[in-house]
Amino acid sequence: MTDPTARPAMLISRALPDPAIEAARARADVLVHTGDRPLTKAELVDRLQGRHGLVCQITDTVDAEVLAAARDLRVVANVAVGYNNVDVAAATRRGVLVTNTPDVLTETTADFAWALLMAAARRVVEADRYVRDGRFTQWEYMVFLGGDVHGKTLGVIGLGRIGRAVARRAAGFDMRVLYCDAAVPSPPAGLAATPTDLSTLLRESDFVTVHTPLLPETRHLIDAAALRSMKRTAYLVNASRGPVVDEAALARALAEGWIAGAGLDVYENEPAVHPGLIGLPNVVLAPHIGSGSHDTRIRMAMLAVDNCLAVLEGRTPPSPVNPEALKTR
Ligand code: DGY
Repeated sequence: MTDPTARPAMLISRALPDPAIEAARARADVLVHTGDRPLTKAELVDRLQGRHGLVCQITDTVDAEVLAAARDLRVVANVAVGYNNVDVAAATRRGVLVTNTPDVLTETTADFAWALLMAAARRVVEADRYVRDGRFTQWEYMVFLGGDVHGKTLGVIGLGRIGRAVARRAAGFDMRVLYCDAAVPSPPAGLAATPTDLSTLLRESDFVTVHTPLLPETRHLIDAAALRSMKRTAYLVNASRGPVVDEAALARALAEGWIAGAGLDVYENEPAVHPGLIGLPNVVLAPHIGSGSHDTRIRMAMLAVDNCLAVLEGRTPPSPVNPEALKTR
């Protein structure tokens, strides 16, 4: 018989901000992996033995094999809004609840998509390098000319929470906003944005920003044909998931001038970046830090721990991905 007073056992797969670890330790027996690299699959399986809850990150692959081997597991609390690293269908079949961290990172990620957009259009990173290299020896009229942002057309692919937050910010730049999202046939109240199909959006936008989850149907949504249909003066921003963009095609598009530039926070095979992108001046490359503000990273960790504890304590978690898993228990 199980001891009703026993504390649930949780694995935190990677160090998190102290308040989140403390909150977990207050109510559970917690094992934290503090190494400087993610656990391998074998290590993850090993450490999950006898654990009821897992707080994990996008670098942890929680597939059917891991779920089958983790016999005591009841909840996988991903510290991210995206959860393509977790086999949700397999989790549901096993009655394992999966949770994510929506809302708390929306505005921070939207800020960063704009940071990439502005940096790419106004060549901020190239210009910074120029100054550091000691090449700013006199003011020049024609150096680092970029694309205007104000008054242009922003095309938002995927009008979920983050897409909306990005679109909202465009009002401050007097931009026309187009969006493409089959699930949002008309814009939410208060948002000046026009729904359109993908090909019109690609053809008419000066800035195309991608905010779709990674699904079979969104993999390589932005492929060579899509890039060729964009304006030669346009910029692409991706702060969603890398495989939504065909990175080899993008490297070619940027090198051959099919489009003017790009800002990327995510990559097809993270942490690898397509070698064709590395040497190009017209792409800004960030290491998947869209939600990376001090406050937001604490909020995400607290929410993930809260989700995990809620399931372990028999409460409804704040942000379940597969609530139907409760029925398969
Ligand atoms: C997410 O939340 O999905 C981000 O990509 C990681 O913070």
